[in-house]
Amino acid sequence: MNLSPRLLKIANFVEKNSIVADVGCDHGYIPVYLVEKNICEKVIATDINIGPVENAKKTIRNNNMIESIDVRLGSGLTKIDEHEINSAIIAGMGGLLIRDIIIQSKSIIDSLEYFILQPQNSQIELRMWLEKNEYNIVEEDLAFEGNKIYEIIKVKKGKMTITNDIMYEIGVNMKNVSKNDYMVFINKKINKYLNIKENILKNATSVDADKISKINEKIMKLGDVLLCL
Ligand SMILES: C[S@@+](CC[C@H](N)C(=O)[O-])C[C@H]1O[C@@H](n2cnc3c(N)ncnc32)[C@H](O)[C@@H]1O
Repeated sequence: MNLSPRLLKIANFVEKNSIVADVGCDHGYIPVYLVEKNICEKVIATDINIGPVENAKKTIRNNNMIESIDVRLGSGLTKIDEHEINSAIIAGMGGLLIRDIIIQSKSIIDSLEYFILQPQNSQIELRMWLEKNEYNIVEEDLAFEGNKIYEIIKVKKGKMTITNDIMYEIGVNMKNVSKNDYMVFINKKINKYLNIKENILKNATSVDADKISKINEKIMKLGDVLLCL
């Protein structure tokens, strides 16, 4: 199974011999890859929609893995019992939906050794929520696909303290990301804020002064991080 750079980076965070749930499995590529590479003996793949469940079953059948990958229809981890898994992947969804899936199955999430998140948006809100609810981001990674950069977050139960607000945005534990990749990621964020600022200034009124100063502050903080790399 050939995975895209995003899916590969997610799979790389799975520890050998894990029993993992792939929540929102859709195509089922990650479970097949994990079994094929002998990273996992067993995977539970779940999805809330019947179409993705059928897609995943087809991928699994085509790869002769029906004995190793169990596919279940249902929301989040609601169709899984606590002792069945030791880890989970929740990827390719909005950060707020990921947060809601964690809340929905908090007791099973809290029983896991680790879980892997890949939010498509609302990364800031998700990191803030994780910190507030005593989850610890142990490692993060970036995946580059076309002009998109995806953030992958590995989490364990436990406290973390984020000392600089900008880390909610640029990650708290990118220790294995190359300096070059991290710089590209941060520069992209700076450019995003410069564009927002330019658009606001085009239609500027005095009401926008506060917004501009907040954007300037973000740009400055991101620039400071770049200088320290
Ligand atoms: C964009 S796909 C991502 C698929 C795959 N995880 C990936 O990263 O490529 C999102 C999948 O999540 C599923 N989904 C959305 N809400 C869900 C929920 N509450 N529980 C389980 N699956 C959900 C959707 O049906 C869809 O198949």
